[in-house]
Amino acid sequence: MSKLNFNQIYAESLLEPNKFWLQAAGKISWFEPPIAALNRVEENAFIGNWFRGGKLNTCFNALDVHVANGFGEQTALIYESPVSGQTQRFTFKQLLAQVATFAGALKAKGVSKGDRVVIYMPMIPQAVVAMLACARIGAIHSVVFGGFASKELAVRIDDAEPKVVLTASCGLEGNKVIDYKALLNQALQLSQHKPDFQVIFQREQLAAQLDYSGDIGWVDFVANAQPAECEPLDASDPLYILYTSGTTGKPKGVVRDNGGHCVALKWSMQNIYNMNPGETFWAASDIGWVVGHSYIVYGPLINRNTTVLFEGKPVGTPDSNVFWKTIEKHQVKTLFTAPTAIRAIKKLDPQGKLMREAKCDLSCLEALFLAGERSDADTLQWSVAQLKVPVIDHWWQTETGWSICANCLGIEQLPIVLGSPTKAVAGYELAVLDKNGQPIEQGKIGALAIKTPLPPGTFIGLWKDQVRFKESYFKRFAGYYETGDAGFIDENGYVFVMSRTDDIINVAGHRLSTGAIEEVIAGHPDVAECAVIGIPCDLKGEIPVALLVLNEQCQASSAEIQSNTVQLVRDKLGAVYSYKSAVVIDALPKTRSGKVLRSTMKKIARHQKYEVPATIDNPDSLSQVSSALAQL
Ligand code: COA
Ligand code: AMP
Repeated sequence: MSKLNFNQIYAESLLEPNKFWLQAAGKISWFEPPIAALNRVEENAFIGNWFRGGKLNTCFNALDVHVANGFGEQTALIYESPVSGQTQRFTFKQLLAQVATFAGALKAKGVSKGDRVVIYMPMIPQAVVAMLACARIGAIHSVVFGGFASKELAVRIDDAEPKVVLTASCGLEGNKVIDYKALLNQALQLSQHKPDFQVIFQREQLAAQLDYSGDIGWVDFVANAQPAECEPLDASDPLYILYTSGTTGKPKGVVRDNGGHCVALKWSMQNIYNMNPGETFWAASDIGWVVGHSYIVYGPLINRNTTVLFEGKPVGTPDSNVFWKTIEKHQVKTLFTAPTAIRAIKKLDPQGKLMREAKCDLSCLEALFLAGERSDADTLQWSVAQLKVPVIDHWWQTETGWSICANCLGIEQLPIVLGSPTKAVAGYELAVLDKNGQPIEQGKIGALAIKTPLPPGTFIGLWKDQVRFKESYFKRFAGYYETGDAGFIDENGYVFVMSRTDDIINVAGHRLSTGAIEEVIAGHPDVAECAVIGIPCDLKGEIPVALLVLNEQCQASSAEIQSNTVQLVRDKLGAVYSYKSAVVIDALPKTRSGKVLRSTMKKIARHQKYEVPATIDNPDSLSQVSSALAQL
C-alpha cells in the first residue's frame, strides 16, 4: 500500500475527524476506550469534547506501558546540566519507581484527583518526577517558570489554589544562584491562598532553611512512601493548568485535558517530528513553558523517546558549542529550540568557526525545529549552513499545546519556504479573516483564526474563568478560535505569521504582556501615565521599552525614575521580562477618546511608515516619541 501524502492526510483529518482521531487514539493505552472521538456539547459548542467515555492515565502512557512492554531498561530521561557539571540518566524503570513513590507521598499527605499542585522548580529531574506524579494520581499540576518573581508566583497560587507547592532550594542561571525558596516564602506571604504544605528539594549549591509553616524536605517527604498506582481518569479530566500572558496583568490559566493531549502529542511526535520510539529528542526549552510540557516531558515519553532535560543556556554555559556537544554526547536525532537561542550562538560564532574547531560529530542530528517566535531568514540560513539538516519553523501557542502549522517530516517533507512555518497540520482548519470575520483575499494580511472545533490536545478552558475563555478567544469571530496572531496564506497554502494583533510581545521566545509591565510601572508614585511597547532586538527579537509621563511634582531625575521602574518590574514580575529601558516624554500620543496610540508608536520604533490618525488629540507627541526612541 502506498504511503499517503501530506495533502491526503490533512484532508482526511478535516473530512473525517472521528475516523482520523480514533485511529490516532488507537496508538495510546486506554483503560477504557472512547466511544467516539469528537463530541460537541451544547453549552460549549465552540470547542470539541474529545474522546468521551475514554478512561486513561497520562503517566501510564508515559512510563508504565513502556516498562510493561519490556523497555524498562531504555533511557527515558537524560539530565544534562552544564551549570552544575552533572549528567544523569534514568531508565523508564527508574523514572517510574521515583514517580510512583512521589505520587504515593503526595497521596499519603491527602493530595488526590482534582487537587492542584504548583511546581516552582528549576530544570532538574525532580521537576519531571513531580509533574508525572501529579498526572499519576490525577492531581492537576501548574508549573510556574522560575524566572517569574514572587508576586507573579503569588498571583498563580491565588488562582490555582494548590494544596501543595513543590520547589527546590535554588536554581542555577548561568553563573547566578537563584534562591527559589526565598522567592517562594515571599510569594506565600503575598498570596491570599495558603497551601497545606510545601516540599523543598535541597540542592548542594544552596541549602534552604525549612522555616515556613508547612515546609517539608523532599527526602523526608518520600522516605516512607508507598508507590501509588495510576488513577483511571476521564479523557476530559484536566492534566494541568499553565498560565500564559494575556493582554492584562492577570495571566490566563490554560487548562489541558488528558485524553486529547495524549493522543495529539503521540501523533505529533511521529508525524511532525518524525520520531520513532527509542530515539533521542531534545527540546531546549524550560518546563515552565508549554514547549517544556509538551516536548521535554509528555510527548517524548509517551512516544517512548529518550528526552534531554538541559539545565543551561545556549551560550555561556560554558560556551557557544554546548548545544553541539550535547547533541553528539546523547546522539540527539531532533533538536527543538527557539530562534533566539540560535541567534545567541550565531552572534558568538557567525561563521561557525568555533563550532568546526570543536569537531563535534553531528551525524546523528536529522532536523532542527524552531518555534516560539517568527524565524528570521538569517537564523534559518545560518542553521542550515552549519548543521546541514532541514530547519523547520513551526507555529504554535500555549493554548494549542502543539503545532498549528509545521512541515510534517514524519509524513512528507514539503519544500521549505523562508519566513513560513509551512502549512496547517492535521485537524487545524486555518482562515485569514478581516475585522468583520469575513475571509480575506488570498495573500492579504488578516487575523489568523482556526475553525472550531479545535483538534484534540488544544485547551479546554481557562481555569475558573470560562467567561474569559469564551470572550477572549471565541467571541470576535463566530465559529472560529482567534489566535491573536496576524498573517496571510499564499497561493500554495503556505502560512506566514507576521505579528500579534494585541499587546503581547515576544522576548527571547517568551510571550509576555506589556499590560502587566504597564500595571507595575503605573504603581510608581512619580509616574502619571505610561505605555509599554516592544522594540526590535537583534538577540531577543523584541524587548520592552516604557514611555513614561511623570507627575508634575516629581522631584527625582528622569534617570532615577527609569532605574526605579526597572527594579520595580524585576521585583514584581521577574528578570525574564528583560525590561531595561524607559524614556520620559511630556504626553502619550492619544486619540481624542483617550486611546493610547500603541500601534503608531510600534511603527515609529520599527522605522516603518505611519499615518497620523485623524482622531489624534496631540499630534506633537508623536515627534517627541520618535526622538525619545531614537536615543535608545
Ligand atoms: N530563573 C531565574 N531567572 C531567570 C530564569 C530562571 N529560570 N530564566 C531567565 N532568568 C533571568 C536571566 O538570568 C536574566 O536575568 P538578568 O537580567 O539578571 O541577566 C533575565 O531573566 C532574562 O533572561 P533571558 O531572556 O534568558 O536572557 P539572557 O540574556 O540570560 O539569555 C538567551 C539570552 C537568548 C541566551 C536566552 O534567552 C535563551 O536561551 N533563550 C531561549 C529561550 C527559549 O528556549 N524559549 C522557549 C521557547 S521554545
Ligand atoms: P506561547 O504561547 O508562549 O507559546 O507564544 C505563542 C505566540 O508566539 C504565538 O501566538 C506567536 O505570536 C508566537 N509564535 C510562536 N511560534 C511562532 C512562529 N513559528 N512564527 C511566528 N510566531 C510564533
